[in-house]
Amino acid sequence: MCGIVGYIGKRNSLPVLLEGLKRLEYRGYDSAGVAVINSDSDIIFFKKAGKVKELESEFNKDLLNGNVGIGHTRWATHGEPNDTNAHPHFDEGRNIFLVHNGIIENYLSIKKKLSLEGFSFTSDTDSEILTNLVEYHFRHKNDFEVAVRMALTEVEGTYGIACICKAEPDKIIVARMGSPLMFGVGIDETIISSDAAAIVNYTKNVIYLEDGEFAVIRKGGFQLKTIKDEHIMREAQRIEYDLAEIEKGGFEHFMLKEICEQPESIQNTYRGRINFDTGLVKLGGLETVKDKLLSAKRFIITGCGTAWHAGLVGEYMLERYCRVPTEVEYASEFRYRQPIINSDDVVFVISQSGETADSLAAMKEAKRLGATTVGIVNVVGSTIAREVDAGTYIHAGPEIGVASTKAFTSQLMSLALITLMIAQNKGTIKERELDEMLRELKMLPDKIRQIIEKHKEYEFVAEEFKDSRNFLYLGRGFNFPVALEGALKLKEISYIHAEGYPAAEMKHGPIALIDENMPVVFIAPKDSTYDKIISNIEEIKARKGKIIALANDGDEDIKRYSDYIIHVPRTAPIFAPILNSIPLQFLSYFIATARGCNVDQPRNLAKSVTVE
Ligand code: G6P
Repeated sequence: MCGIVGYIGKRNSLPVLLEGLKRLEYRGYDSAGVAVINSDSDIIFFKKAGKVKELESEFNKDLLNGNVGIGHTRWATHGEPNDTNAHPHFDEGRNIFLVHNGIIENYLSIKKKLSLEGFSFTSDTDSEILTNLVEYHFRHKNDFEVAVRMALTEVEGTYGIACICKAEPDKIIVARMGSPLMFGVGIDETIISSDAAAIVNYTKNVIYLEDGEFAVIRKGGFQLKTIKDEHIMREAQRIEYDLAEIEKGGFEHFMLKEICEQPESIQNTYRGRINFDTGLVKLGGLETVKDKLLSAKRFIITGCGTAWHAGLVGEYMLERYCRVPTEVEYASEFRYRQPIINSDDVVFVISQSGETADSLAAMKEAKRLGATTVGIVNVVGSTIAREVDAGTYIHAGPEIGVASTKAFTSQLMSLALITLMIAQNKGTIKERELDEMLRELKMLPDKIRQIIEKHKEYEFVAEEFKDSRNFLYLGRGFNFPVALEGALKLKEISYIHAEGYPAAEMKHGPIALIDENMPVVFIAPKDSTYDKIISNIEEIKARKGKIIALANDGDEDIKRYSDYIIHVPRTAPIFAPILNSIPLQFLSYFIATARGCNVDQPRNLAKSVTVE
């Protein structure tokens, strides 16, 4: 969701802002804008609907020559993505310029109050109201910092903001409530951002703002405070982030790069966490809550989108191998249905970004009700990672493509490790079965490599079906959530309508859609569900649907029933969703690129949804 950047230091700020915006564009890309305090203390701004590239090509860069500036790339909440609604926003007198991520919920009542005071507005955004509220207080107090603080005590909702003031051109003020904001402390310069990706090129020393905090940043340093004006001391945290990891590295798209990184990302998830000699699984981050995990009466898994799908696989794993009742909840629903939670429950929160607003809110609600909260998060130092009782990082590395790929498979691997750790300690898994799993685990990276090598097969199938208008994905057991995720990947990036279903459930509705134009992807590994899946395939075939079967290497029988076959190596059932997801990621990728879609930045989506 919206990206924020800011720069104050000795360099010309514009190139830093533009580079930062490009790095953050995966978070939102409806429109973009920058505002810079020039050497003559005038503030010059440019903003435009569309991508950062379009913004850049539109204006004369020589006009923005100061070393204090802010920028924004937007994912629209209030108001359509047009030039006027783009950030930065400013007041009529062009004194305050502000970029905002989040939602100001009481913006209408503030707008009414400001209108009565003679303020006028040009955009449809809540962010412009906040900007004018700061200006309103500035007119009364003649102090930028006080004005921001007073404005923030009046607003309800969420925000990450960066703002500058023409009358006080030596500073940028930033604040946070529910939307990520941080700044990198370099030598004689500070780089502000909502995401470390825009900072790491300049410094690895980062200060994360907590909710209710704000910072006044000058060329010579910064002051961190609460919005109640209490001073805060905080050391910068060193972040380990390799710039090469957030570049495309020769691939045409981040999504393709990230799909192809999975042999390594999966290995990074389990590296150092399994002793292959003793068979013991140890997750350092969960040691403090291990007793809770072993005595829990119930597990609840929550998350959004792809993370929720990972949770569904987790439910199969935890119930089958740990024998603990497990429920999976959409984070967006969880807290609104007065959930019955108690201190014997463990709530797992899965989130790639660690910033998804609904997942964060669900986590807080679970905590409030007394449950133990455990994060399964990718982005190190993110809000969810910081606020859970304990957690495990999935270590998938930065994921930039909006459609999640390697983070999903690493979430599955993390869930498998948690399952094995609990099952071992509770004695709910047979030693033989565990040995077999660990043997399979060691072979997974190579099996993923074999899948990647066969990308031509998926490309061929994609070419055949790129013009289809609908798709159905069917699977059973562990592979039912894989079907859901396969369908989600396809619709996200190709805009083809797709649905995932448990294969048998298909008879209760979706079968009505089957005709010779309907491709149906069956996830049909040779496991205990195989014969049943074959019956479901027959049911579709009888109605002339086109069958694309994902089958195990060596399964020749399935040829009789299928129009197209995608072969996947066999593995233990607990890891099958990891392997089976990858060809489906490729299939979506190739279909979307064949249709000319922008796979890294699909329309209307954002990588990290930091509003409810
Ligand atoms: C957005 C992204 C999805 C992601 C979901 C949850 O919708 O486009 O790819 O699965 O948010 O994000 P999280 O960062 O919490 O995993």
